[in-house]
Amino acid sequence: MNTAARQKQDPVCAPDNSSEYDIAQPLAGAMIHSLRAFGYDLATALADLIDNSIAANAKNVWLEFYWHGEQSTIAVVDDGKAMSESELLAAMRLGSRSPLDQRDPQDLGRFGLGLKTASFSQVKRLTVGTKQNQAVSVRCWDLDHVTQCGDWRLLKTGSESFVKSELPRLDPLASGTVVFWEAMDRITLQGTDTNSDRAQQQFLQRADQVKAHLAMVFHRFLDPRENVGKTPLKIWLNGNPIEAWDPFLSAEKATQLLTEEAVPLLGSRLTVRPYVLPHHTKLSAEKHRQASGVKGWTAKIARNCRRDGENNRALKAMAVYPVRIWEHSLGRDLTLARRQIKRACRAAMRSIVSAPEK
Ligand SMILES: Nc1ncnc2c1ncn2[C@@H]1O[C@H](COP(=O)(O)OP(=O)(O)OP(=O)(O)O)[C@@H](O)[C@H]1O
Ligand SMILES: [Mg+2]
Repeated sequence: MNTAARQKQDPVCAPDNSSEYDIAQPLAGAMIHSLRAFGYDLATALADLIDNSIAANAKNVWLEFYWHGEQSTIAVVDDGKAMSESELLAAMRLGSRSPLDQRDPQDLGRFGLGLKTASFSQVKRLTVGTKQNQAVSVRCWDLDHVTQCGDWRLLKTGSESFVKSELPRLDPLASGTVVFWEAMDRITLQGTDTNSDRAQQQFLQRADQVKAHLAMVFHRFLDPRENVGKTPLKIWLNGNPIEAWDPFLSAEKATQLLTEEAVPLLGSRLTVRPYVLPHHTKLSAEKHRQASGVKGWTAKIARNCRRDGENNRALKAMAVYPVRIWEHSLGRDLTLARRQIKRACRAAMRSIVSAPEK
């Protein structure tokens, strides 16, 4: 409901000139910079843009890293259903949709912020061009301009390089959207020389990190085996397709697929499909490295230990005392496992006896 409609319906919101309130609008210049601190990194920010492309039913997303020293840019182009001009204007607004709105179950968005906050976390100029029904619309947030004017002025044109190089990318598409990042002050520092090989290598390394992250977070959309009967998503990074990262190593012979289980949850049925990953001796060194994911095995194991700790605490609070026994310690000799269970029982008894009476 818009403000005028709400004021008509709701006496609390009616304008009454009674001097009971002040309108405290956020200051554009200050607010837009605070929005830069949302805790994204380059890979998670780009993943938020691709979420939008997927929600728009894109089948292809072309991600381009253009190296021009401090003038480097990044573009995300998709062939999704795109936006009309009024939809684009709404999309560029901060808080374009309420998190309370009902959304399509396939829509990966929730807060109406991602496009803007993800972009501002990395760059100072965000331009979006979109083509729907042969009509092309463009809008641009330039943070320096907003700061200078102290006003939420959304520009109706993009930079010369956007108009010359990026907009034409929509020409061959029936519909699609291009999101263009310039003034990337958090990615390529001011003064970075275009001819610096080292700086260029670092830029390309960041593109590689992005690739690994996208292969992980979008693996279910990218993997043809997960999309039988549908066209899987294709994400291209500087012209090369990104392959899905398979966390379950399901194509490996030594991987065990255990029996699926159905778990009822909040009126729905959740299917759990357990996998046992192969021992590292059954994998090539390269496969073992790939299987470790973006952050490596140590981070993965540390995360599992943290998760076990959290679950243990939650279970103990319900007077359930978990014992974790690894499959390999259940081998021929059960002494170790027996000892572990006895120790856990004693600890549980001690904590029950010493708990204050209610
Ligand atoms: N590539 C795109 N193609 C079509 N529509 C888009 C695209 N990117 C953004 N939009 C539109 O812009 C709106 C705002 O996007 P934004 O990412 O800011 O918020 P959101 O996706 O609604 O929620 P969240 O903050 O959780 O990402 C989207 O809801 C969608 O309607
Ligand atoms: Mg979004």
